[in-house]
Amino acid sequence: MKKHFLSLGLMACSWFGFTAAAQSVPGPDAPALARQVCVTCHGPGGRTDSGQFPSLAGQSEAYLLAQLKAYRDHSRANLNAQRFMWGVASWLEEADLPKLAAYYAAQPPAPARATPRSADQQAAYERGQTLYRAGEPARGVLACAACHGAQAQGLGAIPRLAGQNARYLAQQLGVFKGHDRADGAAMGGEAGPLTPEQVHDLALYLQAQ
Ligand code: HEC
Ligand code: HEC
Repeated sequence: MKKHFLSLGLMACSWFGFTAAAQSVPGPDAPALARQVCVTCHGPGGRTDSGQFPSLAGQSEAYLLAQLKAYRDHSRANLNAQRFMWGVASWLEEADLPKLAAYYAAQPPAPARATPRSADQQAAYERGQTLYRAGEPARGVLACAACHGAQAQGLGAIPRLAGQNARYLAQQLGVFKGHDRADGAAMGGEAGPLTPEQVHDLALYLQAQ
């Protein structure tokens, strides 16, 4: 384990406890790491209702592994990536990364956030659905479904979006607009033309899938 995890001030207290315990055992397995470390932000089994942190459960394994590597090599570089995940990723052993990716990919995904909607929200949901399925070719926006799947379940290394919280989704669309995710070249082109209203509508639609 590397020493500079201490830079993750927010987590310092619980991490002290964790590393002290870890010294007496050969090394925690992925479920133990998930229970002792990741759970604080990503929730039990990688399912969280917080708008600040993404759910990881049921996410594509290849995608999860690529993201952990991207935090580790700093190619995913928005402010929240730096604040929260750079420290975590640098502290993990290389061998932990595929194990954690496999662990979270195998967890049942977060359920759809199908809360009752006002008439305005219902209209936004429907606009989001149309845009997700058809894109807006005249403005260069491809159908999201073509890459993320008809149910937003993800395809291969392309992430699942269904059931992810709206705030996180909207935040990441902003990150792609700012080109702060080096692996997100395809998404930079997609997110660029989206208006704030379209981002809102898509995020509202997706969290309810
Ligand atoms: C202190 C809070 C915190 C802890 C602890 C934490 N994370 Fe994160 N994680 C975040 C935040 C915030 C983000 C979103 C960052 C961004 O904007 O890129 C994130 C994003 C991720 C992503 C990208 C998800 C996606 O949909 O793109 C993965 C994968 C991830 N974390 C895995 C882990 C694992 C595995 C652990 C435990 C070893 C862990 N995290 C511990 C806060 C945390
Ligand atoms: C050409 C294929 C393609 C299309 C079309 C596409 N995406 Fe993506 N999307 C990707 C890929 C690939 C990634 C992973 C990028 C990375 O690794 O940084 C991604 C990532 C994302 C993420 C980040 C998820 C996370 O957990 O952090 C969001 C949100 C997203 N896409 C939303 C959309 C929306 C909304 C649309 C339609 C407007 C769309 N995408 C259209 C390929 C696509």
